[in-house]
Amino acid sequence: MPSRAPALADFSAVILAAGKGTRLRSNFAKVLHRAGGRALVEHVIRACLPLHFREIAVIVGYQAEAVGDCVAPLGAGTVLQRPQNGTGHALRVARPKLHRRSKFVLVLPGDAPLIRSGTLERFAHAHRSSGAAATILTAVVADPTGYGRIVRKSDNSVARIVEERAAAPDERAISEINSSIYAFTLDSLWPCLDALRPDNVHKELYLTDAVALLNLRGFRVLAELATDAQEVLGCNTRAELVEVDRILRDRKRRDLMDSGVTIYLPDTVLIDPDVRIGPDTVVEPGVQLLGSTRIGANCAIRTGSVLRDMVIDDGASVLEHCVMASSRIRSGSAVGPFSRLRSGADIGPNAKVGNFVEVKKSRLAENVKAQHLTYLGDAGIGKGSNIGAGTITCNYDGVSKNRTVIGSSVFIGSNTALVAPVRVGDRAYVAAGSTITDNVPPDALGIARGRQSNKPGWAAARRKQLAAAAPPPRAAKKRARPRRRPARKRRR
Ligand code: UD1
Ligand code: CA
Repeated sequence: MPSRAPALADFSAVILAAGKGTRLRSNFAKVLHRAGGRALVEHVIRACLPLHFREIAVIVGYQAEAVGDCVAPLGAGTVLQRPQNGTGHALRVARPKLHRRSKFVLVLPGDAPLIRSGTLERFAHAHRSSGAAATILTAVVADPTGYGRIVRKSDNSVARIVEERAAAPDERAISEINSSIYAFTLDSLWPCLDALRPDNVHKELYLTDAVALLNLRGFRVLAELATDAQEVLGCNTRAELVEVDRILRDRKRRDLMDSGVTIYLPDTVLIDPDVRIGPDTVVEPGVQLLGSTRIGANCAIRTGSVLRDMVIDDGASVLEHCVMASSRIRSGSAVGPFSRLRSGADIGPNAKVGNFVEVKKSRLAENVKAQHLTYLGDAGIGKGSNIGAGTITCNYDGVSKNRTVIGSSVFIGSNTALVAPVRVGDRAYVAAGSTITDNVPPDALGIARGRQSNKPGWAAARRKQLAAAAPPPRAAKKRARPRRRPARKRRR
């Protein structure tokens, strides 16, 4: 995290995000693809936010509106680049918009989401204090394929950047690459941008060519080597995108583990960036914690469960293979295995919700038990009530949703249908197998089922009748001896 604020008030930030991303073979703009639970460009903006730039301008072009919608909530402005004539052209387009009071610009590609605020801050300060016209954030990587290579001069400053396609064999062998993160001093940059020419296979204006042009005009260009080469990885292909996602997910899990959360087999656990988890909570393999999920301390989230936008209070358990969203589970309660909470379920303290129970828009008070095979929708259930196996709240009449209100200390027998709107009073019983259409008063027994009658001897008589009608049993077959195959006639 940056140490001082406002640290970079003499810098503007420009994020290049206008390209299509042809190599992803997608119908969506590259920077909108998601890694680590966020759009690529969102990560880049979030890395910039703590540094208090004078402004953050995002260059948009391909699917400009969608990219604009993505970045607006973060307070970044947009500049339209149309057509998209290359990274150098993108910065040219930004020129009129850059705040006059900025002395420097920090340029970042919108498709490299691993960059950290601290790295950017050190980099910008290094540029400012060096007095160079430009500084390039570089990295030494094992496989430089696809990146621009850094050609250094004998004094270690940078002579030029050569793109992969234009590189001679000895230049391709250079393992120091251009991250596309640059700091420029604006006064010396603008004349060079005007001088850019589209002398390359794509017939575009490359920002990378500005480096040689600065040298020609007698300016110094420096390179700052990133300490963590991973931070500059770009997402040009699907393979790179999922690799970057893996790294972002790993960072999130490590942060949580550092704060006291146990995550077993962490590579199998997917946790979105905004998820918060308290200490001593244990997360088992194959769990997904998504969206704005908040989990307290001392909870257990068992294997295979998927939680989206959930609130789990301290000491609650989510057992194996639950699917739940937009609901709350209060302290000490246990939900699962195989439970489903849809939106608006509120499971009270020390309650139990068991296997194949679905709860929607229903509040279960303290100590309620609904352990097996039940649907509770649009219901309120009072303290300590027991919901028997196979209970269904019939909340939908084909037109509208209706409420079921169950009081406290109620016992609902198994296989009960509660046809809403309906109320069951405190301490009442409902007999198993009932279809309840009228309110049950407090302390009463509600019973609504056909009365049973037994017919003595009926089954025995039936068997006899069947036996008389059946054909005589066949003589038991002798166990067949294995037959010898008849010898095959030789063909002549
Ligand atoms: C670029 C650099 C390369 C560097 C690499 C690092 C150039 C010519 N090459 O290559 O040296 O190693 O980044 O990741 O700059 N964009 C625009 N407008 C355009 C074209 C691109 O805004 O007209 C945006 C893209 O949306 C993208 C970023 O600029 O976010 C970089 O463009 P991309 O095509 O990915 O460049 P690379 O080929 O990766
Ligand atoms: Ca790129």
